[in-house]
Amino acid sequence: MPIPRETVDLILSTARIEEVVGEFVSLKKRGANLWGVCPFHNEKTPSFSVNPARNIFKCFGCGKGGDSARFLMEHEHITYPEALRYLAKKYNIQIEEKELTPEERMAQTEREKMFNINAFADKYFVDTLWNTDEGKSVGLEYFRERGYLNPIIEKFHLGYSPSKWEAFTEYAKKNGYDPEFLEKVGFSIKRQNGEYYDRYHGRVMFPIHNLTGKVIGFGGRILQSDPEKKLAKYQNSPESEIYQKKETLYGIYFAKSAIVNKDECILVEGYFDVLRMHQIGIENVVASSGTSLTTEQIRLIKRYTKNITMLYDGDAAGVHAALRGTDMILAEGMNVRVVVLPPEHDPDTFGKTYSTEEVNKYLKDNAKDFIRFKTELLLQDAASDPIKKGQVVRNIVETISVVPDAIFRIAYVKETSRLLDMPEETLMVELNKQLRAKFKKSLGVEGEVIPDEPVVAPPQEQPQEETLPPGYYQERELVKLLLVYGSEMLNDIHQDEDGQEVETEISVAQMIVDDLINDEIVFNDPVNKKIFDVYDQALNSGDIPDDQFFISNEDEQVSQLAIDLLSTPYKLDHWENHGIYVKSEESKLKLTVQYAILRYKDLIIDARRKTIQDQIKEEQDPDNQLILLKQKKHWDDLRVQINKMLGIVIAK
Ligand code: CTP
Ligand code: MN
Repeated sequence: MPIPRETVDLILSTARIEEVVGEFVSLKKRGANLWGVCPFHNEKTPSFSVNPARNIFKCFGCGKGGDSARFLMEHEHITYPEALRYLAKKYNIQIEEKELTPEERMAQTEREKMFNINAFADKYFVDTLWNTDEGKSVGLEYFRERGYLNPIIEKFHLGYSPSKWEAFTEYAKKNGYDPEFLEKVGFSIKRQNGEYYDRYHGRVMFPIHNLTGKVIGFGGRILQSDPEKKLAKYQNSPESEIYQKKETLYGIYFAKSAIVNKDECILVEGYFDVLRMHQIGIENVVASSGTSLTTEQIRLIKRYTKNITMLYDGDAAGVHAALRGTDMILAEGMNVRVVVLPPEHDPDTFGKTYSTEEVNKYLKDNAKDFIRFKTELLLQDAASDPIKKGQVVRNIVETISVVPDAIFRIAYVKETSRLLDMPEETLMVELNKQLRAKFKKSLGVEGEVIPDEPVVAPPQEQPQEETLPPGYYQERELVKLLLVYGSEMLNDIHQDEDGQEVETEISVAQMIVDDLINDEIVFNDPVNKKIFDVYDQALNSGDIPDDQFFISNEDEQVSQLAIDLLSTPYKLDHWENHGIYVKSEESKLKLTVQYAILRYKDLIIDARRKTIQDQIKEEQDPDNQLILLKQKKHWDDLRVQINKMLGIVIAK
């Protein structure tokens, strides 16, 4: 349920950043800030700062920064509302839930009902496993036979669904659940005659948990081996609002802290593989459960670590699945290694056969980075065939080309060169060719013939070097002045209607906003503009927003910019460098603001003049040319004025 805005504000202003961070990072005071070793990247000397005055943190090493809520989101891998609830609890703030619209309430109750029936079923299956004759003799016995011990069976809430066809459906109906709803969530299936029976009857049950530990679905395994394969080995919950296969990883709830601690996630295929690894004490393990790995699943892992180790069956299918997965993981900018088990094993049997130490040693000795894995695999039947070897090269370079980071691509090329015994240059040429092809494809000019260029150059960086709009840095400067000094008051001397000089006070924000609006200048950068617009609107209603408003802004780009700008100290002392000695802090500030406005306008107007000049050259129609010339004169005049003023400001 959404938390009302006022409560959010209250929570964020009550939370003390140093207290929130201090629970996780040990901080030492140095100057106005507190410093510690950054929890978000590896470092030895502290570059992680906490600014109690602004109530924000910022790491000058990795760039992460934000308010208390952002810290918790990043550090604890929780969502924004979860972070707010955590803080509310810490500071004893009551969250009054906002009234929902009827549609919101419908969607909400539907989801809640789904969580509710899953929790209800979870309890029932666990209870049946441990406390009924059939559960004990069939279900529990099955797990025992496969070598699973109580702690694991309990931890993962494994259960049993009775073999009686409608046992659960009837039980749920008696408890007020409507059979149509049971069908929708997957527990019941409708017969021709309109009656319902249990989807999972006679199966051992695996509840599937989401990140926060709520049950969102189930997998149920048949017990008897079924050589004719008439029955599917597993029955799984159908997709629903709360359960999407492609976004789910089996075991993530139980694995997440181990993944963070080890900075590695081991990826396996099945439910039992996860159970086995946990039972032998290897807990950073999750399963994609039957579906081939998806980008969503990879991104889920990326919240906890950048390192994935795929632990796949030694058979052909397992190797194939691993191959498909590696490119997707690389494309997310993550590191991937592959461990292939001996052909007769899957992680479950392997962990059953060998001790924890032996398994760990096997993982350590056999983890191959994707290049080595792919090269060795592909070379197996191509080693002596030069044509096939050419295909292998192309294939591997193709994989390297999905890696987003150029530095890593170069490192991978070096390694491939060593493994394939081929000159790096040759590989680079091939890589560049593929990168170009990919780039063109992304521009939608697919199919065009790309000439073979015999260039041997480092791979082309993605052409992200967009040209910045004119005055970009000056815009930022003005935004920073707004954020840091927006509400400071300055003396303003101007002439009233009678030509008399009057002295009034004006806020820095008002000064900047009025000045730019008068000259009809609009910020080019969309994020800068957003911040400017907020000031403009607030000033119209007599308000000045404070920095906290931007730091905890819903728009992440806005809050990120605010944090970046507010984290670097603003020095007002550069006037001395110009040989100008200003008496008070206030006049120093006023000069700084005026200078920043003029510099910015100067650049904007210069750009406009140039555009018009180009237009004049192009224009054939003399009448139009005249209009343009007049416009240009206007800008020229303004520029002269501004430069005069700049001169005055500087020379004062
Ligand atoms: N799976 C599925 N439906 C099937 C077969 C498999 O959903 N009909 C999923 C399950 O999540 C399963 C995973 O794919 O855990 C891997 O399949 P498999 O290796 O066959 O299952 P295991 O869990 O290893 O089961 P077992 O060891 O009992 O064969
Ligand atoms: Mn198995």
